[in-house]
Amino acid sequence: MGEKFKTVTVIGAGTMGHGIGLLFALGGCSVRLVDLSRERLDRALKLIESHLDGLKLHREYGLEADAVLARITPECGLDESLPGVDLVVEAVVEKAAAKRELFQHLGRRLGADALVASTTSYMDVFSLAPEGLQARLLIAHFYNPAYIIPLVELVPGPKTDPAAVVRLRNFLETLKLTCISMKKYIPGFIINRLQRALGREIFHLIDAGIADPAEIDRAAKASLAIRLPVMGVVARYDFAGLDATLNNIKGEPVHLASGSDRSPTLERLVAEGRLGVKTGRGFFDWSGRELEDLLRQRDLRLLQVRRLMQEWIDRDARKGD
Ligand SMILES: NC(=O)c1ccc[n+]([C@@H]2O[C@H](COP(=O)([O-])OP(=O)(O)OC[C@H]3O[C@@H](n4cnc5c(N)ncnc54)[C@H](O)[C@@H]3O)[C@@H](O)[C@H]2O)c1
Repeated sequence: MGEKFKTVTVIGAGTMGHGIGLLFALGGCSVRLVDLSRERLDRALKLIESHLDGLKLHREYGLEADAVLARITPECGLDESLPGVDLVVEAVVEKAAAKRELFQHLGRRLGADALVASTTSYMDVFSLAPEGLQARLLIAHFYNPAYIIPLVELVPGPKTDPAAVVRLRNFLETLKLTCISMKKYIPGFIINRLQRALGREIFHLIDAGIADPAEIDRAAKASLAIRLPVMGVVARYDFAGLDATLNNIKGEPVHLASGSDRSPTLERLVAEGRLGVKTGRGFFDWSGRELEDLLRQRDLRLLQVRRLMQEWIDRDARKGD
């Protein structure tokens, strides 16, 4: 059994922070959810209530929704009470200046035993933190939505105490999360690197007018989406045959998109304000539907897949015992 972090402070209550806060509250922690304005905190709490109401996540923990909400204390700005905190999760914007300033603040105020976990997607946060935080700073990269997707990539910095990684990993595993420990930092860790490679090809196929966005998604859902949960991305090669894989690689050159990640289509859509579901249009038209309804429909489907996957993950883990 892992150590229970009783009091967790999640800093940044945006897309990731509100979901991570909910996850910890479901797991029995007292959560302080910190952001810069009352408005952002209200939005985060509204989303959390909506997730509980729509997905009934609390029932899996034998709790009432109100009991989960009561564990979350919203806080505008960091106060002086950081010394009582066991774990800080940094989920502020992906900007070096914001993270550096926050780490300086934590370095001055945090108690000596508290861990600091950053959920940065790509950044070398270790280069932004003061010396006093280095031994207890690590990356814990959650996936969105954090209350459904169980993966956390744990990445130590050059001076992170290995015991800090073990402490956090043991705790996160009590929350039924799947923790992957990486040996050292690389931007994007495992899954964002794979997604980035896939993204290059997706944007290339769209930019070059080779296939429409809807057709690409239809193709992915009818193939990758079914194979991935069963074979992962590596065992798949064993099933395909490594000789066949080698032949494919040596055969007709594919000329995968490489070099630049910039996509003219992506840049045009962003310039037009087509940012995705949050503005009603992105690659697709989402207009006329409430954002919360879109997220709920997504989450209900993700939960169905997660429950099936969890069964398989648990069964595989039992076989490995
Ligand atoms: N969005 C994703 O899918 C995703 C997935 C995994 C990791 N991440 C990472 O998580 C982090 C947060 O991303 P996000 O998508 O939640 O961003 P977001 O913009 O939705 O939320 C960030 C929040 O941090 C707040 N903030 C900024 N500075 C602050 C400070 N000093 N104190 C308190 N609050 C502060 C902002 O007001 C905002 O509400 C980033 O490092 C990002 O790379 C994002």
